[in-house]
Amino acid sequence: DSPLRVGVAGLGTVGAALARLLLTRAQELSAEGARPLRLTAVSARDASKDRGFDASGLTFHANAADLARDPNVDLVVELIGGEDGAAKSVVEAALETGKPVITANKALLAAHGLQLAALAEKSSVPLLFEAAVAGGIPAIRALRDAVPGQKVTRVSGILNGTCNYILTRMENEGIAFDDVLADAQRLGYAEADPTFDVDGFDTAHKLAILTSLAFGTEIEASDMYVEGIRAITPDDMAAAAELGYRIKLLGVAQLTDTGIEQRVHPTMLPLDSTLAQINGVLNAVAIDTDLLGEIVLSGPGAGGDATAASVLADLQDLARGLEPKPLRLPRGTLRPYQKARMRAHEGG
Ligand code: HSE
Repeated sequence: DSPLRVGVAGLGTVGAALARLLLTRAQELSAEGARPLRLTAVSARDASKDRGFDASGLTFHANAADLARDPNVDLVVELIGGEDGAAKSVVEAALETGKPVITANKALLAAHGLQLAALAEKSSVPLLFEAAVAGGIPAIRALRDAVPGQKVTRVSGILNGTCNYILTRMENEGIAFDDVLADAQRLGYAEADPTFDVDGFDTAHKLAILTSLAFGTEIEASDMYVEGIRAITPDDMAAAAELGYRIKLLGVAQLTDTGIEQRVHPTMLPLDSTLAQINGVLNAVAIDTDLLGEIVLSGPGAGGDATAASVLADLQDLARGLEPKPLRLPRGTLRPYQKARMRAHEGG
């Protein structure tokens, strides 16, 4: 089979990890019955930086949109980040030229997901985004493949690796928030602007995507109750522990009598609950349905290799000729959103 020629836009933590994996695991990635994957082009602002792989055989584009129009690129992986600018341009350019897109960009999807899905549908090409929610956890696949025909009643979880890493170290070591954030940045967990992590917006973006898939609603992240972890102190965590609780930043979307409620905030969880055991950079996604009850998926929520692994899963789908359309467009059957407020306790 002819190779599927991959262009990677953005060579930050995830982009560089993906490029390294595509270059060093070509053999393992050519599954039987799948087209071989070949990295042909990359884009980044700085061509000369050492990113731990040999870029000499690759076409380098300083402008991401040029990567989308490169005749030696069959599909584009967008790992630039940010809801507008270069990320949006390259995704639109690729979809308009009829090239499939894989993105890890939750901010972009939260702001423009339905518009981009409509563009993909118009060009009959897939728009895949497993890596956009909860890093290495196959959460999008779970919602796409595990719950058809069922009524989802709740999707919730720990959706930001940076915050969970910070909270865990604050609790274990009694150190302050600011001292741990720098480590999360050094480890490649945090967003380019870490206020997105610590103020809860990254969780809100991911939750809005999950809500849309679970309930078939429009993606709505701007109107959500969102509170981050900035105000939490080691003393708060010690006090919660004395009462038998652990503080976690949760995203919750649930069906209520009046509509769908979405909220993001620090929450006290009983120490023996499943989500209270999810510590460090781990994330967890819990899905409740009428037939299944609750399933919980957990795993690394951030980091270069874990997030790149989710991109590889989408790449494999395309290489096998599977073209799932995971973003359900609303078709006039929306339930209204219910404005929600913070709840201090959950599940106890
Ligand atoms: N900054 C994000 C996090 C990266 O910490 O979870 C993964 O989306």
